[in-house]
Amino acid sequence: MEQEKKSQTTAEQMTDRDLSEQIKKVTMEIHTRAEKTELMMSFMRGQVTLAQYKLLLCSLYEVYQTLEEEMDRNSNHPGVAPIYFPTELARLDAIAKDLEYFYGRDWREKIVVPAATKRYCHRLRQIGKENPVFLVAHAYTRYLGDLSGGQVLGRIAQKSMGLKSSEGLSFFAFPGVSNPTLFKQLYRSRMNSVELTEEERNGMLEEAVRAFELNIQVFDDLQKMLLTVPEQKLQTCSTQSVNTLQILI
Ligand code: HEM
Repeated sequence: MEQEKKSQTTAEQMTDRDLSEQIKKVTMEIHTRAEKTELMMSFMRGQVTLAQYKLLLCSLYEVYQTLEEEMDRNSNHPGVAPIYFPTELARLDAIAKDLEYFYGRDWREKIVVPAATKRYCHRLRQIGKENPVFLVAHAYTRYLGDLSGGQVLGRIAQKSMGLKSSEGLSFFAFPGVSNPTLFKQLYRSRMNSVELTEEERNGMLEEAVRAFELNIQVFDDLQKMLLTVPEQKLQTCSTQSVNTLQILI
């Protein structure tokens, strides 16, 4: 009995120490906040518009470009290597394909992003340079999110925007992942294999909350842009000339 109790406690402690469990726990509340943003609510209600989706794709392009560049550059770092799955997870080419579908061949000149997206990218660059191990928190937030709720959002988006095929929705498709549930299990076990000092572990958990916060700020900024800038104008602005919402308006 005593032995059973002891091994149970050990098992619980081991679970409690798993980064994947800790990160899920500390981000639970902010995940709910992210779900409740106006943009995510539009998706969930089946009311996402083409304008919302196109604008979201622009920001996702910038975010994944930065995240994936930093992941590539640090792919041999002992903290990053276990969760480096470019073949299965990389989103940049898929987003580029979607952007070309919606904006045409000169899509690169039509990308518009709000200040929050720039801030998110700035943080990713900083982490990539100064603390590459914290890229785990950012990769977790985006990729595991895309493989979870993101899968539902993709199906809803297709219906909401009346898209006939899956064209324009490559972002949601992971052809290299045949079973998302199993893949997420593997990803979690790889996260748990990363060796961290106590200080790094705490920093990682903080960074995960920050990653969600940065996403929420992007969603909120995108909604503001949609309210204040006519779509025609959005389509003609270029990334280079748009750094803040103020300039956009
Ligand atoms: C997990 C739904 C938005 C990040 C999940 C899961 C659901 C879900 C149902 C659990 C899947 C499972 O246990 O296998 C949603 C819905 C959203 C949304 C409906 C919006 C309407 C977001 C956003 C982010 C995000 C905006 C981050 C930017 C995550 C992450 C996980 C997750 C990282 C994995 C949690 C873990 O297993 O550790 N989401 N989500 N989600 N979601 Fe979301």
